[in-house]
Formats: sequence, structure tokens, C-alpha cells
Amino acid sequence: MPVVLKTAEEIAQMRVAGRLAAEVLDFIAPHVKTGMTTGRLNDVCHAYMTDVQGTMPAPLNYAPPGYKPFPKAICTSVNHQVCHGIPGERVLKPGDILNIDVTVIKDGFHGDSSRMYYVGEPSIQARRLSEVTYECMWRGIERVRAGTQLGDLGAAIQAHAEQHGYSVVREFCGHGIGRKFHEDPQILHYGKPGTGMRLEAGMTFTVEPMINAGKAGIRELADGWTIVTKDHSLSAQWEHTVLVTATGYEVLTTSAGTPAAPRLL
Ligand code: MF3
Ligand code: CO
Ligand code: CO
Repeated sequence: MPVVLKTAEEIAQMRVAGRLAAEVLDFIAPHVKTGMTTGRLNDVCHAYMTDVQGTMPAPLNYAPPGYKPFPKAICTSVNHQVCHGIPGERVLKPGDILNIDVTVIKDGFHGDSSRMYYVGEPSIQARRLSEVTYECMWRGIERVRAGTQLGDLGAAIQAHAEQHGYSVVREFCGHGIGRKFHEDPQILHYGKPGTGMRLEAGMTFTVEPMINAGKAGIRELADGWTIVTKDHSLSAQWEHTVLVTATGYEVLTTSAGTPAAPRLL
């Protein structure tokens, strides 16, 4: 499928959807604490989306080819879960780290963002993994501008992860986004400089590296969705939706509570 270049009107709508996704991530932060279940996090977010925002959760009943419909409104991926964790009965405990991934639909447009959250105090290793993964996302984002090749973006993310002894998950990638949840191009979080498609102003896509503390290998749980590290090492992920401009990028998934960009990139 060809890459969709968004018009000025579509970009305005993407800004709204992006902000709303980020605002769900702000809203849920104080609820992430010991004793909470991932299922309740889902229910609270779902109600906020539908009742307060007037948005729809894109994951709910999302069923790409080969998958059964995703049964919940958000993804919650705890500790060695890499992505696509299904909210349920799991009770959060001190030291857990989790990714909450929110995709809203507003007036037909998608905004997709995820952040890491700590339950109480994380271990030094878990905090470091989350912080380096955040830097990895930003290493990719800062390379976004018209003319950049996708391999440059992926290589920047991969180099930063591997410098810290971490590994990049290969099976899942960032994606074009707009009227569709997942559209072209695919944004790999690894690669070779000087290779791949050139970015054009008006593209909108996600940058969402999944970084493992151990080896890159993953496997899927019997629920058909949850992805975990094969070696049971911790995994982290951060995600923004961005717009390509002639001179650089605009992060679309920003809100009052969006963490600042790292100081050193
Ligand atoms: N939000 C995820 C992404 O970043 C996709 C989740 S698909 C779901 O692309 F069905 F698991 F929700
Ligand atoms: Co995404
Ligand atoms: Co997402």
C-alpha cells in the first residue's frame, strides 16, 4: 500500500487524536500503584475515553489477519512482557514496571502512544532499561525530517540500545498511522545507515522501540496476543506518533504530562 501524505486539515485532526491519546496516559498515571489490576487500569481508561473524551479505543476488537479480536481497550505489558499484554486479573506489585499503550480514534483519526510506568520504586536495572528505551525512541525521532532514510532512523535506535548491552525486538515495528491504525511505512527500530525509504513531509508514523535487557528473542503467549521475552529478561517500550515536516518533526502525542525530551541526545 502506498504511503499516505496527510493534508493540512488531516494533520490538524491527527494533532487532536494525538493529544487525546497522550491525555489518557496522563490520566492513568496516578492509578498505577500496588494492588491495582491491569484489568481495572483498562476499565478506567476505557471509561475516560468514551465518557470524557468522546474517543474510541482502537485496540478493542482489533483483528489483523491471523489474530483473534483484541478483547480490551488498552495494552498493559508488565516486566518481561514486551507488548500487546491483555489487561486482566494481574495485580500490580512493588517494583513492577509496565508499558501502557493507548490508541484512540477521534473523528476517524488515530493517535497512538505508550509510556513506561513504575509501581513503587523500580530496581536500578529496570529504571535504567526504561530510561535508555526512552532515549532510543528519541534518537529515532530526532532523525525525522524530509529526506532522511528509514535505515538511518533504525540504526540510531539500535546503536543506542546495543551500546548499553540491550537488544532490539525485530518482530514488531513502528507504523504509518492516520485514518488507519496501521498503515505503511513500517518503521524498523534497527537497520543500516543510508538504506531504506526516504521520508517526505506530511507522513505520520509511530516510533515505538521495544528494548530487551537480555536477548532479542520473543515468544507469543497462548492468549494469541501477549508477547514476552524468550529469556524472561525485562523489556521496555515508549511510543510517540510523529509528523514529518520539511525541516524536522512534530510530535503529535503530546499533552501536559508528556515527559520532556532527554537532555542529551
Ligand atoms: N498500539 C499498538 C501499536 O503501537 C498496537 C496494539 S494492537 C492491539 O501499534 F490489538 F494489541 F491493541
Ligand atoms: Co503503534
Ligand atoms: Co501503540
